[in-house]
Amino acid sequence: MKGIILAGGTATRLFPLTATTSKQLLPVYDRQMIFYPLNVLAKAGIKEILIIVAPEHSGQFINLLGSIFEGAGIHLEFRVQKIPRGLADAFILGETFIGKDDVAMALGDNIFEDDLSAKIKKFEKGGLVFAKKVTDPERFGVVEFNAHDQAISIEEKPKKPKSDFAVTGFYVYDNQVVEIAKSLKPSVRGEIEITDINKRYMRMGELKVEKIKGAWLDAGTYDSLLEASLIVKKKEIYKNFDPAIDKAIIDFNLELKTIAKKRLN
Ligand code: DAU
Repeated sequence: MKGIILAGGTATRLFPLTATTSKQLLPVYDRQMIFYPLNVLAKAGIKEILIIVAPEHSGQFINLLGSIFEGAGIHLEFRVQKIPRGLADAFILGETFIGKDDVAMALGDNIFEDDLSAKIKKFEKGGLVFAKKVTDPERFGVVEFNAHDQAISIEEKPKKPKSDFAVTGFYVYDNQVVEIAKSLKPSVRGEIEITDINKRYMRMGELKVEKIKGAWLDAGTYDSLLEASLIVKKKEIYKNFDPAIDKAIIDFNLELKTIAKKRLN
């Protein structure tokens, strides 16, 4: 299975913080936001990861991540998304990278407390998404369940949500996703929507929706960015990192400190 992290977009809700850097490079407690989705993929044993970035921030991503995980056996590739056409664009931009494999995609601003790796490793076919009960479902993709806990509808940011369950920003699909993404038409907000991919799998009877219990954060606003840092600290989410990933981050920080000290002397 290949991995993709979608870390582009304009992040206007976090402007002017995002005038100088990308949202996914902002700190969440003691490390950059992008390390959290990277960790979810690494923990699931995914070794080949494509990072999709906006043109204006591509150099910053390469400075941070260019060689950091070489020792951890993780191969990173980068791809620029010129225009933020929507989440489903990841599978079109990533077509050659995905090849004939299955693919897991993580949004670069989503943080999970739960360890999703066992469920990702068990994936066989179709689509797999994770749902979390929230108090503000109208901000998200919303999934409705029937009395047997089967998912029966999905809507993107509905004005009148049919349930309190948000579709979180981690998606696993089989290789059909590339052709499905290529067939999508832009929505009323002008984006090719991941929700339309999920609806397609649901219509085919191939979408599995797993409810998660632990904290889930979409760090896209000032308040949720602050809350993300507080929850990561309180629940010690940074301690659940894959040991090889954690070591790579710590070693890289030490290297930066040494370089900075040399410059000061
Ligand atoms: O966070 C979960 C939600 O993410 C889901 O519940 C929704 O169904 C899904 O549409 C998405 O909603 P958002 O409105 O929160 O997505 P946003 O535009 O914030 O983009 C999510 C991430 O993807 C963010 O880190 C920016 C990046 N992105 C976004 C777009 C549209 C890109 O890299 N390229 C893009 O074209």
